[in-house]
Amino acid sequence: MPKKIILTGDRTTGPLHIGHYFGSLINRKRYENEYQTFIMAADVQALTDNYDNPEKVSSNVLETVTDNLALGLNLEETTIFIQSQIPQIAELTVFFSNLVSLNRLRRNPTVKTEISQKKDMFGEDGESVNFGFVGYPVSQTADITIVKADLVPVGIDQLPVIEVCREIVEKFNRIYSPVFPVPEAQLSEAPKILGLDGNSKMSKSLNNAIYLKDTEEETTAKIKTAKTDSGSTLVYDPENRPEISNLVLLYSLVNSIDLELAQADLVNINYGAFKQKLAADLNSYFREFRERRLEISNNSQLIVETLAVGRARVLVEAEKTMNLVRSAMKIDYKF
Ligand code: TRP
Repeated sequence: MPKKIILTGDRTTGPLHIGHYFGSLINRKRYENEYQTFIMAADVQALTDNYDNPEKVSSNVLETVTDNLALGLNLEETTIFIQSQIPQIAELTVFFSNLVSLNRLRRNPTVKTEISQKKDMFGEDGESVNFGFVGYPVSQTADITIVKADLVPVGIDQLPVIEVCREIVEKFNRIYSPVFPVPEAQLSEAPKILGLDGNSKMSKSLNNAIYLKDTEEETTAKIKTAKTDSGSTLVYDPENRPEISNLVLLYSLVNSIDLELAQADLVNINYGAFKQKLAADLNSYFREFRERRLEISNNSQLIVETLAVGRARVLVEAEKTMNLVRSAMKIDYKF
């Protein structure tokens, strides 16, 4: 049996943080031998809502790739590449764009929420949202299908995007010919990590994230100022006590214990002492990763080689896929 193919992508808008790590990166290492995995630095997608800041998008390509390499992946099994270096993805996006209605895209819950979170750029009611952003699920469908991926690891918030992807692929297969497997979302089992301020998202602009590249001192300082509440017990009750629960969740993750055990561990400890312990445990959990990351970031040759190999591998797959697509769509002219 050939291995199932996974494609996963990171928007290159900032270095990756511990939310990305526990939600996604950890599985790239855990399942590296079980699947054939493609990891894509999604610079083209990042430009859809950062087109006015190309420097931010391009400078974070290497950050994202370095974060992935620091996992110590087996690069025989896993391929890392940059989205913009595969022009066939853009070509396939154009063909797929005929297979979904504009209304379907605009009403997509993920896209809708994201548009409403970007009022500065897209207007109060999303009236000035650009074509590229509304259409990112279409280009994401091309990312996934260009390597004929079977599985797409995503967080819950990306499920509606994968739904659109499946609809496009089914329609393509029906109208032209069954070229593609219909991809399935693979949901991470870890609960979502909130920002240190309790916000539902860790992000640079909110200044509430712990980055994988942070130093131990930075990590400790961030935990120290993380938002808590006026209670005194350390429990996991995300409905009623989101900030404390988030820290207890982190504690359970970095100690590789379940939430029940974590809570049992934390009776009779005050917030201050808990934060110190959590910071120390976090730092020891990530120590090896961070050492490796530092080494890799000083080894530009490894990064350059990895990306060259990745690009070459994906270009071969992409051209194979596009030959099938062009033939299915009757545009494989012999003249
Ligand atoms: N949209 C994804 C996110 O915001 C990133 C992404 C781009 C992606 N292309 C992808 C994820 C393809 C999975 C597959 O996290």
